[in-house]
Amino acid sequence: MEIEDIIKSDKDHFMNVYSGRYPLFADRAEGITIYSKDGKSYKDFLAGIGVNSIGYSNQRFKDVLKDQIDKIIHCSNFYYIEAQAELEKMLAENSCCDKVFFANSGSEANEGALKLARKYFKRKGLKKYETITADKSFHGRTMSTVTATGQDKYKKPFTPLPEGFITVPFNDLDALKKAVTDQTAAVMLEPIQGEGGIYPAEQKYLEGVRELCDQKDILLIFDEVQCGMGRSGKLFAYEHYGVEPDIISLAKALGGGVPIGSFMAKKEVADAFEPGDHGTTFGGNPLATRAAVEVMNIMLEDGYLEMVREKGEYFRNKLDGLVESNENLVETRGKGLMLALELKGNLSAKNITQELFERGFLVNAVKEHTLRFLPPFVVKKEDIDLLIDNLKELII
Ligand SMILES: Cc1ncc(COP(=O)(O)O)c(C=O)c1O
Repeated sequence: MEIEDIIKSDKDHFMNVYSGRYPLFADRAEGITIYSKDGKSYKDFLAGIGVNSIGYSNQRFKDVLKDQIDKIIHCSNFYYIEAQAELEKMLAENSCCDKVFFANSGSEANEGALKLARKYFKRKGLKKYETITADKSFHGRTMSTVTATGQDKYKKPFTPLPEGFITVPFNDLDALKKAVTDQTAAVMLEPIQGEGGIYPAEQKYLEGVRELCDQKDILLIFDEVQCGMGRSGKLFAYEHYGVEPDIISLAKALGGGVPIGSFMAKKEVADAFEPGDHGTTFGGNPLATRAAVEVMNIMLEDGYLEMVREKGEYFRNKLDGLVESNENLVETRGKGLMLALELKGNLSAKNITQELFERGFLVNAVKEHTLRFLPPFVVKKEDIDLLIDNLKELII
């Protein structure tokens, strides 16, 4: 297709939900660079919104996918799937959870996590069904997960919303305590909020939330769809805090670009599900789980997560340097390679994103004054330096 035909087809035949797409016509990619059909190239500091963490050209990953495509792509969950078995074992052995379910996206993973929490209490004969979430959170686009999401703009168009969801301020333990009722089944939080602008939970807050959940017989769900799978510099962000949830949801980087989501739980919680309670046609199919096994193999290699932490620190220091030298920059936030730069005044994150795009860099304006960076972990220090030099020119 010619570029004009792609634009025309998108306008005429694709639902109008991604207004103002950037004129990048993704053709191929290498390392952290995406090449557009029009001959331009872009250094990607967004990684497909936190998906392409292992980069675009990991040869081992590509070879494994090709091998799996030649063997079998899909069968169904009526049958045993070897890669699924390997992946569930790897996830259980490397997390605080024991049992796993595979879905296709972050929304679906969270939807399943919410169902599991309700079923857990139903099985106990208790009328506990409410979930408390935090403002600025993002949990997905299905009816339940959009209701769980603590940002009105995502849910207002779809009222009336499903009942049983309450939102309270993030990092405010007192507000959470006040919201708990006899019906509270779960508290669902992102240990590091992503779409809300990269806000890490405070240590004392997460500790307090765990204690509260234990006291009141409430399940704690960590949505690690964005901050999990190495993004924060640990395999799971909860490891930074030493606070274990009862249920974890994952997606994004798990499949290295092949769509897969997952929720996993401690045995006692997971065992609430009985045959027929949950299921999926595609979830955990041979191709997706084989991809995720290889992503796990790569991330669990010696030194890999240290490398993420080290590059994250390098990037953070460079951003901090900008903040120190410019009064229109407020702060940097985040952990590992999940970082934000907060602007103020006339500096618009959207304008800077546009100007960086024109200079061949992909970043994201996650809020009016917030730039978000989620580069592939194979980003080089030279790439970071180049981005910082360009940012410097744009913010003076
Ligand atoms: C924390 C979090 N949860 C859930 C989702 C939804 O994931 P998906 O878009 O794969 O449905 C996202 C997506 O950005 C997310 O960041």
